[in-house]
Amino acid sequence: KKIVLSYSGGLDTSIILKWLQQQYQAEIITFTADLGQGEELEPARKKAEMMGVKQIYIDDLREEFVRDFVFPMFRANAVYEGTYLLGTSIARPLIAKRLVEIAHETGADAIAHGATGKGNDQVRFELAVAALDPKLQVIAPWRIWDFKSRTDLIEFAEQNQIPVAKDKRGEAPFSVDANLLHSSSEGKVLEDPAEEPPAYVFQRTLSPEEAPDSPTIIEIGFRNGDAVSIDGVELSPATLLARLNDLGKANGIGRLDLVENRFVGMKSRGIYETPGGTILHVAHRAIESITLDRGAGHLKDELMPRYAELIYNGFWFSPEREMLQALIDKSQEAVEGTVRLKLYKGNTIVIGRSSPNSLYSTKMVTFEDDAGAYDQKDAAGFIRLNALRLRLLAARSKGIER
Ligand code: ARG
Ligand code: SIN
Repeated sequence: KKIVLSYSGGLDTSIILKWLQQQYQAEIITFTADLGQGEELEPARKKAEMMGVKQIYIDDLREEFVRDFVFPMFRANAVYEGTYLLGTSIARPLIAKRLVEIAHETGADAIAHGATGKGNDQVRFELAVAALDPKLQVIAPWRIWDFKSRTDLIEFAEQNQIPVAKDKRGEAPFSVDANLLHSSSEGKVLEDPAEEPPAYVFQRTLSPEEAPDSPTIIEIGFRNGDAVSIDGVELSPATLLARLNDLGKANGIGRLDLVENRFVGMKSRGIYETPGGTILHVAHRAIESITLDRGAGHLKDELMPRYAELIYNGFWFSPEREMLQALIDKSQEAVEGTVRLKLYKGNTIVIGRSSPNSLYSTKMVTFEDDAGAYDQKDAAGFIRLNALRLRLLAARSKGIER
């Protein structure tokens, strides 16, 4: 038996690696993705080698991640439950896709992941695998093994010569996930939603209080709804997002403390940091504000919560997500131009937008002489007909003749 394991090199997935080897007498192939989490990946290779793994995949997926997953999602302005920019959710289908490819390259018959049986990530991995190769078996050790507690896990690690960092023994780690778009922290000190998160939870942003007292002004350029430049310099998708992350970090932008509804039904509390994504989201709405027609814009806004929920729930590879994506992408054809922003103490403030495709007409909207561009008399009939039913309703309720 051959199993491809999604392997971070951390304690949990190292325990899973050893457990799979013992449980299935299987050959394990590890896959570690560079999604811009900002962690050294060589230690993961060393650890896998030490545990006897012969086929070790370590892939830099940063550009693909931003170009084919993050940017399409940002075209929709997707947010889950009003605030979550879906930083973890959007990475899972890409990891799953690569796991399936590696299974095919190596002739493996199963895929294993380190998500627990309580969360969203298991669903996202497994729905994606099902959509891409229904024959592949998925093994989720958290749902099968007999370990009942952290202590059991650490005992197993020690019995099997898996190094356990000192801070893993005590109160320390909550569940952390990170990539170029965001980092998330859950569990332990964060499990009481009434309590403010301690400062050490935050990893990639200064607090607004620590941010500089003078603002940073930037200009983001867009083409077909995607950000393509910062201050006139064209950048690749991953480079651009990394640059926005630096700018957001320095200005205390993108922190979120959220209680959300997991797909499995329970509520969970998470701390998220999405510095660059927060800037991008605000900028994208600003460029849409002058380039999107009202009907198009309102329709995509109506569909957005649905689209966000599909991504949150793990249905990236589904016909309905692809249908919505086609609609959203169509809407972005004229979404081009630049947005000027002021970044200041946790805020992303739009201070200007311009586009060769702008629908904004100063001639129409001006309070000055419009030289006959718009006839104000037209508004009287417009209002009269819109008011017709309201008049009839009011007349009925007041018993007036109609
Ligand atoms: N609750 C967020 C989500 O469902 C973040 C999950 C973080 N995952 C993790 N393995 N730490 O998208
Ligand atoms: C997990 O349960 O593995 C992390 C949290 C989640 O997937 O929602």
